[in-house]
Amino acid sequence: MAQLNKIQISSKDWTTSKADVLTVSMFKGGALSSMGRAVDRRFGKIITKAVKSGDFKGKSNETLLLFTGGSSARLLLIGLGERKELTVEKVREAGGTMAKVIQSAGHETIASEVPGLKKLGDAEATQAFVEGAVLGSYRFLNYKTVEKDAKIVKSLTIVEGGSRTGLKRGKVIAQAVCLARDLAAHPSNVATPSRLAREARRIARSGGMTCKVLNRDQFTKMGMGAFASVARGADEPPKFILMEYRGGKKGEKPFAFVGKGITFDTGGISIKPSSKMDEMKYDMCGAAAVLGIMQAVAGLKPKGNIIAAIAATENMPGGRASKPGDIVKAYNGKTIEILNTDAEGRLVLADALSYLSKHHTPAYMVNFATLTGAVIVALGHVASAVMGTDEKLIKSIIKAGEATGERAWELPLWDEYCDDVKSKIADVKNLGAPGQAGTIAGGAFLKAFVGDIPWAHLDIAGTAWWNKDRPYVPSGPSGVGVRLSLELLNILG
Ligand code: BES
Ligand code: MN
Ligand code: ZN
Repeated sequence: MAQLNKIQISSKDWTTSKADVLTVSMFKGGALSSMGRAVDRRFGKIITKAVKSGDFKGKSNETLLLFTGGSSARLLLIGLGERKELTVEKVREAGGTMAKVIQSAGHETIASEVPGLKKLGDAEATQAFVEGAVLGSYRFLNYKTVEKDAKIVKSLTIVEGGSRTGLKRGKVIAQAVCLARDLAAHPSNVATPSRLAREARRIARSGGMTCKVLNRDQFTKMGMGAFASVARGADEPPKFILMEYRGGKKGEKPFAFVGKGITFDTGGISIKPSSKMDEMKYDMCGAAAVLGIMQAVAGLKPKGNIIAAIAATENMPGGRASKPGDIVKAYNGKTIEILNTDAEGRLVLADALSYLSKHHTPAYMVNFATLTGAVIVALGHVASAVMGTDEKLIKSIIKAGEATGERAWELPLWDEYCDDVKSKIADVKNLGAPGQAGTIAGGAFLKAFVGDIPWAHLDIAGTAWWNKDRPYVPSGPSGVGVRLSLELLNILG
């Protein structure tokens, strides 16, 4: 875990702070908070002069680091953009930009106000700012043995206003996102299905949840023929992981989260080309999101019952691996013709979704999966695709996506698409019409395994990782899904 971990609200005035850097934000055009104005006065109009000289305009994520020689020796100015366009996302970005700039300048302690408190409300603004700061400071350094001294900011002290509940929520959620990023960043020889199971047990213990892990023999005997068919080529032991959190009444229907946990996707016998195949260690980002969600649940203890399922295995070629044309039976009894062993995510999810539908009848069921390359063609790395059977659930997911900056865009699951996944000789096949609507075909296939449970599928193949630095998402795995889901629980809870 390499990220900012110490965050506090100080009752003392900023003037007494001894942090390496004091941070103040400014709207475009020069509007400052009352703390900003006081800082400006104390240091000989330093902000006013920076604005007059044209060195600092206050554009979104613009920064200027100045030396004041005060008890906090430096002052960081952060731009917030237009005042009337301020959103929680802008505040989250400001937190991320702050952590990144201060960290890369080699400083370790920060004292800051929370931007946008007045307009957005104490709890919301504090949560967003803290989330941004933690997420922006995140680096994956576990395997660096030489450049060990890459610095991570050590502490953030909020010196003006701020909400303690907002701080706690922001910190717990952001750290859960960092867990998801870490699990994704670890290579497949470390982040194995067994490792995911161990993380699940640890989280369950810390949050008073139950955790059940089924091995290959157990889930095969139970009838998870689709999941078992993907795991056949793998020597690395596969795991079916179940976690249950009870924060609601007995008998109250749970909210279910399901994750695709392919810890490495070679494609199997329908093997992938070797270029960028290393990125297929990220094919468990759905599972990582679900573990992140459960870690945040353990820390925040929300009301309601929550259940999580992860189907974890490698997808490997080999003498025992499934072959194109093979037919298998899923947990709900439906037969599947496997026409391409590289469309394995939908196979493992078919059993996980069937299992939860049958044994837990969830109020809602949401799955996260890096399911199709086609979603990157459709939406790039900017939004996840969402599909499902329940209007209210989908609308809520889109809303939660807007609030958290983890945007989701709906694709249709019309009957024509569902017809495309019908097989000539089995009930369904794991491919749609060739070259058409690949992301929807994935969703249409999954729909055959959810029964009448209100369900949504998020294809996160484009959003789970990206090689571009953003204000609070460094290049690499993003941990997408965690923040969206906690917001979703708020909306529907
Ligand atoms: N894990 C991949 C999807 C993927 C590809 C995610 C590239 C991120 C980047 C998935 O298992 C897969 O291989 N899907 C196939 C489906 C096809 C065979 C119908 C794909 O997208 O090519
Ligand atoms: Mn695949
Ligand atoms: Zn895959």
